[in-house]
Amino acid sequence: MKAMVLQPPIGLDRLTLEDRPDPGAPGTGEVRVALHGSSLNFHDLGVATGRMPVTDGRIPLADGAGVVEAVGAGVTEFRPGDSVVSCFFPDWQDGTPTIGDFRRTPGDGIDGFARGAVVLPATAFTHAPKGYDAVEAATITTAGLTAWRALVVDGKLKAGDTVLLLGTGGVSIWALQIARLMGARVAITSSSGEKLERAKSLGAEFCVNYREQEGWGEVVHDWTGGRGVDHVVEVGGPGTLAQSIEAVRVGGHISLIGVLTGGAGEVPTAALMGKQARLQGLVVGSRREQQDFVRALDSSGIRPVVDRRFPLEQLADAFRFEMSGGHFGKIGIEW
Ligand SMILES: NC(=O)c1ccc[n+]([C@@H]2O[C@H](COP(=O)([O-])OP(=O)(O)OC[C@H]3O[C@@H](n4cnc5c(N)ncnc54)[C@H](OP(=O)(O)O)[C@@H]3O)[C@@H](O)[C@H]2O)c1
Repeated sequence: MKAMVLQPPIGLDRLTLEDRPDPGAPGTGEVRVALHGSSLNFHDLGVATGRMPVTDGRIPLADGAGVVEAVGAGVTEFRPGDSVVSCFFPDWQDGTPTIGDFRRTPGDGIDGFARGAVVLPATAFTHAPKGYDAVEAATITTAGLTAWRALVVDGKLKAGDTVLLLGTGGVSIWALQIARLMGARVAITSSSGEKLERAKSLGAEFCVNYREQEGWGEVVHDWTGGRGVDHVVEVGGPGTLAQSIEAVRVGGHISLIGVLTGGAGEVPTAALMGKQARLQGLVVGSRREQQDFVRALDSSGIRPVVDRRFPLEQLADAFRFEMSGGHFGKIGIEW
């Protein structure tokens, strides 16, 4: 079975295609899945470049989708031929979060999905959204579910709410599509005027170039008529949080998701207190939330935005494309 593997010293040039043993037949409670697609996340980039240390020989990629080839004894949820997609936390089935690290996350603490096939507990997968190909399905594992949880599960988003999204990467564009599906109004930032035009075509109402408008928080606040936005999907971190607090309404909700500008920094705590806003850290979501998300997608007709697709053998080039910041939405890997 072919697999992309990270060999020391870890770096994009050290991503190598290897032949690994076939995973064999599924045991009790397990499924064998022929994998055909994945998508890139900022997290995967961190692993592949050595920013997030992993064990030598690790198979990268947290997102995986494909087709069930065989099911073990006791598996009733899936049948051979079913299209399935992986879960970011294979052990977090339902309820409130109990896991605060990546020790059991595929492509980080355990081997990921950059390979031909896996045998795993059936509970490490859900059904894929109907009609999605493997790359499209794979985009829900990390980016899609994070956006869904931020807005719908934690945010209790409703029609008429206003949402602020930062940048046009995988999480933000999924959040844009989910927000529009739920009848919310969207403001979005980007470093690129061209990308803002694309966001508009997906239903974004208010666009700001964060490179040209340093005080974009106030500009977005003004867009809401001085009320402030109900929700912010905060993928930036320390370099953007102050502006997000500026933009949010009194009593609003900020989902603290990303580290695009770093992992630590100053927080204007008095401004946050004055806004009486809820600042909620979150990491992806549970399998139950993924199943709810899939049900919503099945009734929506939404398809994820996949900017470019690369073959598995060109995984390093796909990461280089992500590093260039040229993408809008997701980058797909297919085989
Ligand atoms: N907590 C979680 O569960 C979770 C889950 C998924 C992702 N994340 C985090 O969320 C962040 C985004 O992940 P992703 O996979 O969506 O990344 P991605 O697809 O690589 O998106 C990167 C995009 O972010 C935008 N960006 C970069 N710097 C920015 C800044 N200073 N202000 C606003 N936008 C900026 C750029 O958009 P433009 O080109 O439009 O400027 C860039 O293209 C990462 O920090 C990632 O680790 C967290």
